[in-house]
Amino acid sequence: MTTTIPSSDLDLYCDELIREPYEAYRELRGIGPVVWLEASHAWALTRYAEVKAATENWQIFSSAEGVSLTPFTNETLRGTILASDPPLHDHLRSVVGERLTPRSLRPMRAQIQSIAEDLVTTLLRRGSFDAVTDLARVLPMGIVPAFVGWPDDVHDKLLPWAAAAFDTMEPPNERCKASMGGRRSMFEYAVGLTESRNVVPGSLGAGVLDALDRGDVEPAQCPALLLDYLAPALDTTISAVGSAVWLFGRYPEQWDRIRQDLTIIPNAFNEVLRMESPARAFSRVTTEPVTIAGTTIPAGQRVLLLWASANRDERMFERPEEFDVTRLNANAHVAFGFGVHGCAGQGLARLEGHAILGALATRVARFDIGTPTMAMNNVIRALAALPVTLIPAPVSG
Ligand code: HEM
Repeated sequence: MTTTIPSSDLDLYCDELIREPYEAYRELRGIGPVVWLEASHAWALTRYAEVKAATENWQIFSSAEGVSLTPFTNETLRGTILASDPPLHDHLRSVVGERLTPRSLRPMRAQIQSIAEDLVTTLLRRGSFDAVTDLARVLPMGIVPAFVGWPDDVHDKLLPWAAAAFDTMEPPNERCKASMGGRRSMFEYAVGLTESRNVVPGSLGAGVLDALDRGDVEPAQCPALLLDYLAPALDTTISAVGSAVWLFGRYPEQWDRIRQDLTIIPNAFNEVLRMESPARAFSRVTTEPVTIAGTTIPAGQRVLLLWASANRDERMFERPEEFDVTRLNANAHVAFGFGVHGCAGQGLARLEGHAILGALATRVARFDIGTPTMAMNNVIRALAALPVTLIPAPVSG
C-alpha cells in the first residue's frame, strides 16, 4: 500500500502571500492538520488543535535547534530563551522573567497610560496622519528601548534591526538574505554591550549583567539574552496597534461597541491578535517520529507552527473571518504562542495595547482610513503605512 503525504506547492513567503495569506491558510487547513510545504522544504501544522498541542510538547517539537528555517539564523539564535528547551530554557527565562510579570509591570501602568493620552491629544490636534509611524510606533518606542536597556545612541537602529531579525527568521529567500547584514550588526552590538556594560540602569539588560556578576549566567550567554527581548518587543506590538486601527477603520460598529463598554478592551485586543496575528509562524525540529492524523513526520524534521492559520481555524473559532470584539473565546488565540515558550512579554504588550485603545476610545468616534501598504517581512504581519483621519467624539457635558 502506498501512502501519499499531504503536500502543497504554496510558497507562504512569496510577496503575494505575505500581502494576503488567509486564503492560502484556509487551503492548507483543508488539505490537513499537517502539510508538507514543497517551497519551504518543511512541514506545517495548519490547524489550531495541532499547533497548540505541539507548543505543549517541547520534548518532541524542540526549539533547541532554533526556530528559523535558515541555518545561519539558527546559529545566531543559539543560547537564546526562544531557541532552547528545558531545563536550560527555564533557567534562561528565569534570569529576568520576574521583571515581566503583571505584578512587576504594575508600576509602569501610569507612565504607559500617560504617554498614550498625550499621544492621542497630539494626534487629535493633527487630525490626519500615518497610523504606523505616528501612532503605532510611538508608545513601544517610548517605552521599550529603556525598559530593555539599549542606550540612546542606538535608538534609531532598533526598528531596522528588529525588522531584520524577523526577516532572517524564516526561509533563506531574497528578503532574508538582504536582512542578514542587519542581524549581524545587531548581534555584534549586543556582544559589545556585554563588554561595555553600557545598558540603562534598572533595565532588563542590567538584570542580565547582574545575573552575570552573580555567576548565574556565563559571559557568552549575555548577548543572546539581551537580544531575546529587543526584537520581539517592538515590531510585534507595533503590528498589533497598526492592525487595530485598520480593523476598527473597516468595522466602525465594532469600535462603537468598545466606546459603549470600555471593559471589553482586553477582549478586543485579543480579537485583533487573533484576526491579524503579528507573528505568522516559528518552527521546531522533531526529536522523534510523530504521527498526526495518519501522517508520520520523521525525526529531525523542521515543522512550522502556523500561529496565524491556527487563529483562523474554523474548527476552533466560529465565523473565523469575522472581526467580533465580543467573541467569547477570543482569548484562546495562540498569537502569543503557548506552553513553555508562550510569549514572555505579553504582559507588557497587553499594557500598551489596552492603554492605546482606552485613550482612543474615550475621544475618537471614527477612524477614517485610506489605502494600507503592507510591510514585506518574512515573519511579521504588519502594515508599513496607513493614512488615517481621526473623527473626534463629541465632547460630553
Ligand atoms: C503583540 C505583541 C507580541 C506578540 C504577538 C508576540 C508573539 C510571541 C510568540 C508567538 C512567541 C512564541 C515563540 C515560540 O513559541 O517559538 C513569543 C515569545 C517571546 N516573546 Fe513575544 N510577542 C509580543 C510581544 C513581546 C514583548 C513586548 C516582549 C518583550 C518585552 C516579548 C518577548 C518575548 C520573548 C522573550 C519570547 C521567548 C519566550 C520563550 O521562548 O520562552 N514579546 N512572542
